[in-house]
Amino acid sequence: MIELQRIIIRQGLCLRELLARMDEGSAEILLLVDEDGRLVRTITDGDLRRLLLAGVALEEVKLELPEKAPITALEGTDREQILDLMKQHDVNHIPVLDTARRPVKLVRARDLELPILLSTPHMGDQELSFINQAFDTNWIAPLGPNVDAFERELAEKVGVGHAAALSSGTAAIHLALILLGVEEGDKVFCSSLTFVASANPILYQKAMPVFIDSEPETWNMSPAALQRGLEKAARDGCLPKAVIVVNLYGQSSDFDPIVAICEKYNVPLIEDAAESLGASYKGQASGTFGKLGIYSFNGNKIITTSGGGMLVSDDAALIEKARFYATQARDPAPWYQHTSIGFNYRMSNVLAGIGRGQLRVLEDRVDQRRAVFERYSDSGMGGGGFSWMPEASFGRSTRWLSCGVFDTEGAVDAQRFIERMAEHRIEARRIWKPLHLQPLFAECEYFPHNENNSVSDQIFAHGICLPSGSNMTEREQERVIKTFNEIFAGF
Ligand SMILES: Cc1ncc(COP(=O)(O)O)c(C=O)c1O
Repeated sequence: MIELQRIIIRQGLCLRELLARMDEGSAEILLLVDEDGRLVRTITDGDLRRLLLAGVALEEVKLELPEKAPITALEGTDREQILDLMKQHDVNHIPVLDTARRPVKLVRARDLELPILLSTPHMGDQELSFINQAFDTNWIAPLGPNVDAFERELAEKVGVGHAAALSSGTAAIHLALILLGVEEGDKVFCSSLTFVASANPILYQKAMPVFIDSEPETWNMSPAALQRGLEKAARDGCLPKAVIVVNLYGQSSDFDPIVAICEKYNVPLIEDAAESLGASYKGQASGTFGKLGIYSFNGNKIITTSGGGMLVSDDAALIEKARFYATQARDPAPWYQHTSIGFNYRMSNVLAGIGRGQLRVLEDRVDQRRAVFERYSDSGMGGGGFSWMPEASFGRSTRWLSCGVFDTEGAVDAQRFIERMAEHRIEARRIWKPLHLQPLFAECEYFPHNENNSVSDQIFAHGICLPSGSNMTEREQERVIKTFNEIFAGF
């Protein structure tokens, strides 16, 4: 909110003083009032610029400004009416006056706009009916018909043998590690450029993460860095128990070389497809390339159950075992008997109902997110000074988040850019800070793309994610483009 006293002025100021006040007030407008504090007129920075261009001296007090009645609103006028006034008169500021015509506040267009968020839930038509079924049949439990059906339907959709619905994607990664026998002191390789949830479960098992850099073509795990890492681990006689490969922002990793390298060293692969449900690699669904794959249905994902995850595999025994661990590892005995450590990781039957409805609109959500990205990229945002995350020709990304990097030679600071977007009520975020740079993992080994080039460091330093929700209106997308370009031009 603009501090009114900084922009209210009285007669008798010279051009230099007006320019200084305009600069201080940082509102691109001054409010000229009479001796009783009543609004006489508004003075815009354009008015002052035109005086300068006309050669008016800086010390001149008698300024000839064009006659113009100020566009104002009375106290109590609602948001919609003020927005209409702004549109009608093509102005970005409206002074709000009391009944004596004294300014009480200045409203800017940007203060009235609703916030545009990065990625919000987008429900379809059928979620509620599946939830209602759960209520009608009293299946309000972490098991039930919706859970069974959601597992079956998701497995069918991605073309995998078996699936276990869980409380989160993180839980799915944790169980995947347990199923592969990861224990204290074991090594687990993991993509570095990702959300911390990809690697936290390695720590739950007291194992040691080793981080692998990205390649520039996909921003995903660099096969070259993976090869070097496994070569060294083999030489040292301590190969990892698993490799966690993350598919970033909706795009699949380059699995042909990654699978070949893992097979060469006989290390099982876990595919973290939390962000890439709906994407494909050479026609095969993302999430189905590893011994085990995981998805997340967190609120910000392409489809959501408000919170939830899925573990998938072609190995029926592994998934059966996952369900066992996810329900407190209860032995088949007539009483409560436990031999192994278990977890409370199952998905609720109510939330699985949301998942069933969401699964039916997955393709639409992919198309809608891709359309947001295309609108952005077709607009030429940032000219040559901003490059979008590349989409490799081997697959189809969902463009879960539209993201890109500012030119390393340019003047744009990613953090300041995001702060400026926030001033316009538009949420943008930094690219994940690579895990090898996190204090939590300071002791961990790291293999960059090549000896002198850490690709993920560069992407983090210069990258941002933009609002990408499948439910964004065209007007919201246009607002993002316009604001992005205005801020970009100001750097
Ligand atoms: C790459 C990645 N892995 C794992 C997760 C964890 O999923 P969840 O939030 O469902 O635990 C997320 C997202 O939250 C993610 O983006």
